[in-house]
Amino acid sequence: MSLMEKQNFFNGGAVEGMDRVDGRLKVTGAARYSAEFPIPKLTYGVLVTSTVASGNVQSLDSKKAERAPGVLAVFSHFNAPQIPGYSEGSNPAKGQTTKGQPLRVFSDDTIYFYGQPVALVVADTLERAQFAAGLIQVQYQKASFQTGFNENISHADFPAQVKNRNSTGDYLRGEAEAYKNAAVKIEAEYVIPTEVHNPMELQSITAVWEAADKVTIYDKTQSLKGSQGTIAQAFKIPAENVQVVATYVGGAFGNALRTWPHEIAAVMAAQKLNRPVKIVISREQMFTMVGYRPYSWQKIGLGATADGKLVGISHEAISQTSAYEEFTEGIVNVSRFLYACPNVNTRYRILPLNVSTPTWMRGPGEASGAFALDCAMDELAYQLNLDPIELRLRNHADIDPEKNLPWSSKYLKECYQEAADRIGWFKRNPKPRSMKTEDGMLIGYGMGTGSFSAGRSAATASIQMLADGTYTIQCATTDIGPGTATAMIQIASDALQVPADKIKFQLGNSSFPKAPSQGGSSTISTVGSAVNAVCVSLKQKLGELAIGQGEAESVKPGDLTFENGQISSKDQSIKIAYADVLKKHNLPLLDVTEESKSGEERKKYSFYSFSVHFVEVHVHPATGEVKVKRVVSCADAGKIINHKTAGSQVIGGAIGGIGMALMEEAVIDNRFGRYVNNNFADYHVPVHADIPAIDAVFIDKKDPYINPMGSKGVGEISLIGMAAAVANAVFHATGKRVRDLPITPDKLI
Ligand code: MOS
Repeated sequence: MSLMEKQNFFNGGAVEGMDRVDGRLKVTGAARYSAEFPIPKLTYGVLVTSTVASGNVQSLDSKKAERAPGVLAVFSHFNAPQIPGYSEGSNPAKGQTTKGQPLRVFSDDTIYFYGQPVALVVADTLERAQFAAGLIQVQYQKASFQTGFNENISHADFPAQVKNRNSTGDYLRGEAEAYKNAAVKIEAEYVIPTEVHNPMELQSITAVWEAADKVTIYDKTQSLKGSQGTIAQAFKIPAENVQVVATYVGGAFGNALRTWPHEIAAVMAAQKLNRPVKIVISREQMFTMVGYRPYSWQKIGLGATADGKLVGISHEAISQTSAYEEFTEGIVNVSRFLYACPNVNTRYRILPLNVSTPTWMRGPGEASGAFALDCAMDELAYQLNLDPIELRLRNHADIDPEKNLPWSSKYLKECYQEAADRIGWFKRNPKPRSMKTEDGMLIGYGMGTGSFSAGRSAATASIQMLADGTYTIQCATTDIGPGTATAMIQIASDALQVPADKIKFQLGNSSFPKAPSQGGSSTISTVGSAVNAVCVSLKQKLGELAIGQGEAESVKPGDLTFENGQISSKDQSIKIAYADVLKKHNLPLLDVTEESKSGEERKKYSFYSFSVHFVEVHVHPATGEVKVKRVVSCADAGKIINHKTAGSQVIGGAIGGIGMALMEEAVIDNRFGRYVNNNFADYHVPVHADIPAIDAVFIDKKDPYINPMGSKGVGEISLIGMAAAVANAVFHATGKRVRDLPITPDKLI
């Protein structure tokens, strides 16, 4: 479809794309999430957490709790069985250290942060476990602690991994700090507070030991094989003896990419009690137990010639980590490749605080980095008196300037044009505070760019074809919301040339062929390629079987075509339905397994997805309330497999970006090191009334190199650049630059 045709198509209100195969199950409540498996003799675990931010557990009185009705056990570091995989040398009291390691639940008395699990109560009902948890008395020896980012920023340092590699980790292309000598320059600092993933579904696990060395976990995870490996390692059992089930995941955004202490705790307790144990952490615990987007400070320096050619970009960032583990992400990386610029230097440090360990949150570091960079680009555009799009076009990176490689595909210019036209960008008056609605609201337009690596790794898929012409594909991937099974069925339908309703796709079980975690916008590319490969392989097998002994002389496999579930040879001597091939050979089924991974193309091209977000905001001149009125997001994510599910991704990412820009902030009270808004009443996320209709548009052109489908990822780029678009629109509306998120009314009045 041309852009024009597509525009008409979308304006018609219809979105092409197969309905989600599991949509009905989800909306009717029939889909079973990790905490919903009915398991005989199930018990319920509730975690008791520390009420100090640093120090030691001195004593823990659990007598009342143990005597409370229905209680089976109370575990703490005083009595919990040691996790066999926690290696020796973990007792700080003996001068040993766990530094750099994930939190070892119940392994010693050290408290690193407020909300750290100190005990686990297991009872025969959830209510009894909750009641007993409230009876536990913990005495702490308090130690001094630091949770304030700004007060401690001077203590930020290289991550140890960088130090150990004896490299600086700092990036330099051309000359450092070149922006300072440019004809036109800006320098600005940006702050993004701690943000919490807060998916609707709480983190949960049910652990069931099937034998002394065999466990099944119904786990909320984005990584079946990751959970399997971590549990196997921790409990010193073979990986194949750990079965992980995550049939449905109710949103995650990154917080289920790794295995957290509550998961280890459940497996430990279930083993000790020889009963299934379920732990569903509370909303409050979601703030401290399963990661978050780390608080960050950034400084950007941009320098340009008078006609708007970038001569220097300097990008510095500091983000927080925990006192026991170092988390790093690609916060400054976007400045190295997004725009053409001869002189670029970046610098990244982390700041350990008495908080839990952060993790990737949608877009991850790139979303934080792109907020700073694309706000700074807007500031530079105003200083140059140049349209922000024009500034970006003048600095368009025609090749990847960091890797010095051609892009595998890049339609960013087309994204700018398509989205700008749709929102009416060029009809606006670019002067700040120049546009008003009839009822006096300030109107603002803003834009931001998103980009994220289009990754592809290895995955394996299997297909089983039955003689009745139905197909079942299996792969140990998950679906955290993008509609994985639906897209995979479409890929298989296309590759096999059979109708989608003949194909089932099964995921969410670690016993299926291996896939990496569902993260980093790479599932279509990675798992989709394996699905395609296994379908191609099945066709080949069918072809070989179709060429009977009689035809072997005259027909070669290359002469066969596969269409409408039928194999035919050029000379029409063979014309047979796939299913009849099995019947002819008296086969009940055919089974094929294939692995697929990226190859040499990764050395020749640079693979990225791109997006552009445009927003229109209305700002109340007296109250500073910001309403997002329109959003147009246009993505270059290669070939789109399903416009409906990919469109939903873009809409979800845009909503995440609006939350990031206007609402989200986990506030810590530094006197206690405790979050004060750790609930959905006080931690604000956008609700339906905050969100306008979002126009999600795709360039929809195949990437020729990335994978057989030509699809790049869309999950991260839906969010990356969105917060900048909102902040830039608020500036256009009000003339105020707010560089510390979220942009709450108090910052505008
Ligand atoms: Mo994500 S942060 O790729 O789950």
